Amino acid sequence: MGNEQGRCSRGDNLKGIVLAGGSGSRLYPLTRSVSKQMLPVYDKPMIYYPLSVLMLGGIRDILIISTPRDLPRFEELLGDGNHFGVSLAYAEQQQPNGLAEAFIIGREFVGDDSVAMILGDNIFYGHGISQLCRQAAELRTGAAIFAYRVDDPGQYGVVEFEPQTQRALSITEKPTSPASDWAVTGLYFYDNDVLDIARTIEPSSRGELEITAINNAYLERDQLHVHQLGRGFAWLDTGTHDSLHEASSFVRTIEHRQGIKMACLEEIGLSNGWLAAEDVMNWVNQLDSSPYTDYLRRVASERA
Ligand code: DAU
Repeated sequence: MGNEQGRCSRGDNLKGIVLAGGSGSRLYPLTRSVSKQMLPVYDKPMIYYPLSVLMLGGIRDILIISTPRDLPRFEELLGDGNHFGVSLAYAEQQQPNGLAEAFIIGREFVGDDSVAMILGDNIFYGHGISQLCRQAAELRTGAAIFAYRVDDPGQYGVVEFEPQTQRALSITEKPTSPASDWAVTGLYFYDNDVLDIARTIEPSSRGELEITAINNAYLERDQLHVHQLGRGFAWLDTGTHDSLHEASSFVRTIEHRQGIKMACLEEIGLSNGWLAAEDVMNWVNQLDSSPYTDYLRRVASERA
């Protein structure tokens, strides 16, 4: 495997989690026998996109959490991560008990390190996402989350900002009267305290261990950094048939226009210096021809 350049400055002190469970009931019947996060977003499975964000942030040690039904399929899809230049581990979430349960399930995996979590159905795109993640990863203490302006804030966790300073004042999960248009996205960076905080929070009225309760715990400690993502970023939803279709169209449009692929995991491994061109070529030679593998072959030969 390639050299170690491109690693985030915290190096081995930052672990990653992709939470890819849940029932996906809003997408029925698509999700009756297939995980939502396995559904295609144009030319690759949905989970490739959030995984690419962690990798762009320099994170190589990643835990995938999913349902007992779906976890074996994710292992089949992604393996040990070696061909992307990362190390993947897997853990089951027995029931969709809430996003914060990821830090109870992942306690041993995280160990004494900090952790970044991304939801398996979140798609981010925009110049600078890698740098933003790397900055968040460098935080010594506290938490960093990202807010994005949306036209339906009541569907999300919503941040109330102090008008003059833009300092976060509160976060409310799915408010009926949102205090702003700023939704909390599904990408979170926490110091190691998150493991203990997750153990102390109580289920909400909808019976879930809410990520918003964790964020509010950091807010109370005055240790929550909320970064507003500007217009140059896209944060796409995949929760409905229409938004899933729109996300696919978005990826298709960008890829056709630029002639490059979004969330090509092997390419990111190569750019980060985690893989050598030869590694990618050896891997691609084991695969049948497809637009994705033909692209990989091109990328690897350009860098050979
Ligand atoms: O997408 C960002 C939003 O994600 C945030 O603004 C909210 O604060 C946060 O609560 C969450 O809201 P959602 O309503 O989108 O959460 P949802 O229940 O749809 O779950 C998000 C993803 O996580 C989904 O792909 C399923 C997965 N999931 C969910 C739960 C509750 C799990 O893997 N396990 C779970 O226990």
